[in-house]
Amino acid sequence: MNDTYAVIGNPIGHTKSPLIHGLFAEATRQAMHYTAIEGPLEPEGAFEATVREFMAAGGKGLNITAPFKLVAFDMADERSERATLAGAANAFKFEGGRIFAENFDGMGLVRDIEVNLRAPLAGKRVLLLGAGGAARGALLPFLDAGPAELVIVNRAVGKARTLASQLAQHGPVTAHAYGELAGMGRFDLVVNATSASLTGDLPPVPPSVFSPHGTAYELAYGKRLTPFLRLAREAGIAGVADGVGMLVEQAAEAFAWWRGVRPDTQAVIDRLTVPLD
Ligand code: ATR
Repeated sequence: MNDTYAVIGNPIGHTKSPLIHGLFAEATRQAMHYTAIEGPLEPEGAFEATVREFMAAGGKGLNITAPFKLVAFDMADERSERATLAGAANAFKFEGGRIFAENFDGMGLVRDIEVNLRAPLAGKRVLLLGAGGAARGALLPFLDAGPAELVIVNRAVGKARTLASQLAQHGPVTAHAYGELAGMGRFDLVVNATSASLTGDLPPVPPSVFSPHGTAYELAYGKRLTPFLRLAREAGIAGVADGVGMLVEQAAEAFAWWRGVRPDTQAVIDRLTVPLD
């Protein structure tokens, strides 16, 4: 039987992961099978039981998506540093009855920005909006890319401060309130890692943060021109992107971790990209 993998989340109906991994498997000639599992939200322990059933049936690995990244992290036997700093897992590998946890979200994001969008981060000013799970996963990969400055803003500013102090030893990171942004100049990269776009809302970010030659990146994907990306466009930025590239890149990292071969991503990104407007 072919090695089996899956993505688990809830809801899971719109997931692109089976398509992405199917294209990777075809391109790299890997004999594998990849499905989608709707993880149970209750009762307590049901998610863990579903994962263990998948393992017992011979499953080799999982991708984990909302809302299970934290509970997945908790149930793992071994966790990478990336997963530990994110406090969340987005991929599992099963070996010898043990669960190894990884988190490739932040790495996928940085790779999409630096390689696909050709916007290197070294020496640049980076602004990250939000301090939830998605923002947290991006912090270490951003700092590893060597920016001049990484500024985190969040409505609940205490959450941003906690993250900044946790990451302080890894690089120049500070936390601020949205209200302070007007006096902080322009940023080369502004990333919307809030969940505002899921409800069609705009984080209270002033247009003065955008730099005309910079990049505005929306972590959500498939939402076309979100209010955040629209604001960036109106501020004159040409480089606006949504998270489709990040999705494909994090998938490629998981695929390489499982199969030992890293697939090309550009053709898959092109296939999944929907024009923003
Ligand atoms: P995720 O896993 O998607 O990051 P989360 O952990 O619930 O989800 O975090 C949501 C993030 O989006 C938080 O940083 C939240 O800000 P607060 O902590 O201040 O609530 C942010 N967020 C959600 N809606 C927002 C909005 N309309 N404007 C600004 N920030 C918003």
